[in-house]
Amino acid sequence: MNTPQHVAIIMDGNGRWAERRGQPRTVGHRKGVEAVRNAVKTAGKKGIKYLTLFAFSTENWRRPEQEVSDLMGLLKFFVRRDLAELHRENVRVHVIGERHGLQSDILSLLTEAEELTRHNTALNLVIAFNYGGRDDITRAARELAQRVAQGELDPSDITELSITNALDTSGIPDPDLIIRTSGEMRISNFLLWQSAYSEFVFLPCLWPDFGEREFEEALKAYRCRDRRFGTTTDRTAAAAT
Ligand code: FPP
Repeated sequence: MNTPQHVAIIMDGNGRWAERRGQPRTVGHRKGVEAVRNAVKTAGKKGIKYLTLFAFSTENWRRPEQEVSDLMGLLKFFVRRDLAELHRENVRVHVIGERHGLQSDILSLLTEAEELTRHNTALNLVIAFNYGGRDDITRAARELAQRVAQGELDPSDITELSITNALDTSGIPDPDLIIRTSGEMRISNFLLWQSAYSEFVFLPCLWPDFGEREFEEALKAYRCRDRRFGTTTDRTAAAAT
């Protein structure tokens, strides 16, 4: 059975989930944290090695102050409540995104999660927080430019591999499968460089309703895909070249 090594998820639809129930959006985000816990458990059970969750984007700062503060609070709540269990389950936590400018208590919680779990070997849980694909590439470009300016690197040494290694995801394989919930079909500045050959599955369900059954549905769709990475599976064409 073809299980993706790395699944990345754009968790969309918390607000709509709450609005449909006449509740404030924050209720949807809170339900979304339960869906996060379930997704981590399911990923572990399915033998997925990397699960990346888009928890807060560089654009999410534009939301009303109260909602931003609720989302920050929920991340802290999740780490405080679940870190010990994640560690027991041998999950390694990674955080990607711009750390500069984050509140110091969030920064220290995220660092603590990474430090505590750094030797764990089961699932790698990658939390994309204050993450933007363009920002990731911009920071990588700046780092390489600095190394050139300092004379450590020649411009001709800048390759796809050196850019890959300068991104926040250095050491993490590219996502095989990107899932987005809520029926929206766009990438919204998620892993732009890393998704060059990812398969996309868009599910109509809203994120708080994403459970094991919906995860399995996405994996099933992935298994039916024919990944060619720019080559061909046409045997006659292959034989002719
Ligand atoms: C999108 O729904 C969701 C987010 C912007 C945040 C996702 C955050 C969580 C699930 C909780 C915290 C995360 C972790 C890892 C503990 P939306 O608000 O854009 O929904 P809408 O499109 O229906 O308005």
